[in-house]
Amino acid sequence: MAAQPLIAPSILSADFGHLGEQIAAAELAGADWIHIDVMDGHFAPPITMGQVIVEACRHITELPLDVHLMVENPDGMLQSFAQAGADHIHVHLEASLDIGKSLQRIRKLGCKAGLAINPETPAAKVLPHLKLADMVLVMSVHPGYAGQDFIPEVLPKAAEFRRAIDSAGLDTRIEFDGGVDAETLPAALEAGGQVFVAASAVFKYPQGIAAGLQALRAASLTSLRR
Ligand code: DX5
Ligand code: ZN
Repeated sequence: MAAQPLIAPSILSADFGHLGEQIAAAELAGADWIHIDVMDGHFAPPITMGQVIVEACRHITELPLDVHLMVENPDGMLQSFAQAGADHIHVHLEASLDIGKSLQRIRKLGCKAGLAINPETPAAKVLPHLKLADMVLVMSVHPGYAGQDFIPEVLPKAAEFRRAIDSAGLDTRIEFDGGVDAETLPAALEAGGQVFVAASAVFKYPQGIAAGLQALRAASLTSLRR
């Protein structure tokens, strides 16, 4: 039987004045990983957070820290993010000079390596690198901001990764990031997604963090039973 889908709340939508309490609430409500969106103002428009936030999260939780680097030329920063406490580091195919080398470097640092791609990037550019990736992070919004609408055009691409991963006998996980909520999650799951990143649907959920996580979890389990 397939493993239960994982939920990775993204702290991009957290209240940074109460980050510790918000992460603790997500953990208590059953979050599997904590997703940290690092943006440099170049690859993605805003400047968000860096190593010091990863280090702060490391002191707050023992959950795996899933660090998503939306930065140009990430190679020079990999070691400092690993040292800050990242468990997983995602680099963008569009931002790395040599994605294969970046992924290998991440694994050498003792972290799981994620290959992230923008919505427009075709599957063919990713397929040759799948075996070097522990995760492929399919962005279902354009990098930059929380609260955008899920882009359904990425679904066939994820399904193509699913087939390639299964036929090669790899255990690369497919992770969806952007616009994931209880309505969009089932289609992403159907396309082969195993990990679901959500910022707004957890930290801005009207009934609170725990209810947001429960709604995502319920959506992931309901669709599995269909
Ligand atoms: C977007 C980030 C996402 C974002 C998701 O650039 O990579 O992780 O936080 O936010 P929601 O879940 O609100 O779409
Ligand atoms: Zn992200």
